[in-house]
Amino acid sequence: MTIEIQINRLSNELERLASYSDLPAPALSRVVFTEQDLLARSYVKQLCEEAGLVVRVDPVGNTFARWVGSDAEAPAVATGSHIDAIPNSGRFDGTVGVLGGLEAIRALQRSGFTPRRSLELVIFTSEEPTRFGLGCLGSRLMVGALDEACGTRLRDQEGRTLDEVRAGAGLVGPLSAVRRPTGSYSSFVELHIEQGPILEREQIPIGVVTAIAAPATLRVSLEGEGGHAGGVLMPGRRDALCAAAEIVLGVEAAAKSSGSIDSVATVGVCNVFPGAVNIIPSRVQLEIDVRDTDQARRDAMLHAIMDACQTLSRPRKVSAHVEILNRDAPAACDATVVEALAKACETQHLRFQRMVSRAYHDSLFMARIAPAAMLFIPCRGGVSHRPDEYASPEAIANGALVLAHALASLSQF
Ligand code: HGY
Ligand code: MN
Ligand code: MN
Repeated sequence: MTIEIQINRLSNELERLASYSDLPAPALSRVVFTEQDLLARSYVKQLCEEAGLVVRVDPVGNTFARWVGSDAEAPAVATGSHIDAIPNSGRFDGTVGVLGGLEAIRALQRSGFTPRRSLELVIFTSEEPTRFGLGCLGSRLMVGALDEACGTRLRDQEGRTLDEVRAGAGLVGPLSAVRRPTGSYSSFVELHIEQGPILEREQIPIGVVTAIAAPATLRVSLEGEGGHAGGVLMPGRRDALCAAAEIVLGVEAAAKSSGSIDSVATVGVCNVFPGAVNIIPSRVQLEIDVRDTDQARRDAMLHAIMDACQTLSRPRKVSAHVEILNRDAPAACDATVVEALAKACETQHLRFQRMVSRAYHDSLFMARIAPAAMLFIPCRGGVSHRPDEYASPEAIANGALVLAHALASLSQF
């Protein structure tokens, strides 16, 4: 069976998808359920319908495009990723897995392959945490890792709930209907850029992911006392931003002193109130991202950071309220699916390396209801979540080709 990836067509589709952005190229911003996200969703759905796939959308916007197999009742083989993008990020994160997955399916169609198990492309809603503060919203709801009360509990920066926003996008129906039971899929494979430097540095075209690191997010609300920057003398101050500054360095220290290179922690959000140069900050909100491939080490970091929030703010008479937004377990990829990916690389004479994913993905949750694994392709300089994120057409074509062969073998399984 000869499978050919039409990389020019795929590259053009990736470029067109990147045009749906709230920032000028090369930066990308496509936050879930914004106008640009809805335009991008329509474009991808149109491509899926042009490929003759049966398309359906669930109440939170997860989109499913199915090539029905000869054994239509058998649990399908699924592949997919996300198309939402953080402000000021890149155009390959997630989209390579969506459009590369679609091209893998089209290449199988063109080759004359007939699937036994249906092949289903999944575009997950809100993999990025940008709008509602929690990543992987669509896949969490699919696997039961998030209850439907999130529809009224989760709010965006304007205070609009997930239910209000999704209704505005024309999505109706209870979030409970998003749930897919274990056994819905016989396997799940996600193609994604590595978002790290290893494959490029080792000049290896494919990564086969064997485990996905455990992410956690904290929100820290600090409250001191505002006042006139000129009139309040230093000894009596309760400056919330000074407390925050010490906590930020405490976060860095917790990761650096964990004893493992696999521990990472980042303060990516710092909102200062009232945010005027001549007013002492009375309130600060921090959001802290804490990850490790080892859950116990990740939790030890979390506890160290939560303790630091109290011990560093108390002497300043600043109060610290710490909220855990998510604290997820890592995922082990399924050995059978990993072997199917490895075999597909071997038949295509593409060198591969087994590796861990330090970024999280929808696969982290799909692994809870189906045997799952991931394919990585190199990205230039290992850069991601930046406008200069880049994956070459050759790298993307390699990933889509291996994915196509793996889907074909998993479908007959
Ligand atoms: O943050 C992550 O790991 C993913 O790219 N959202
Ligand atoms: Mn991302
Ligand atoms: Mn991603």
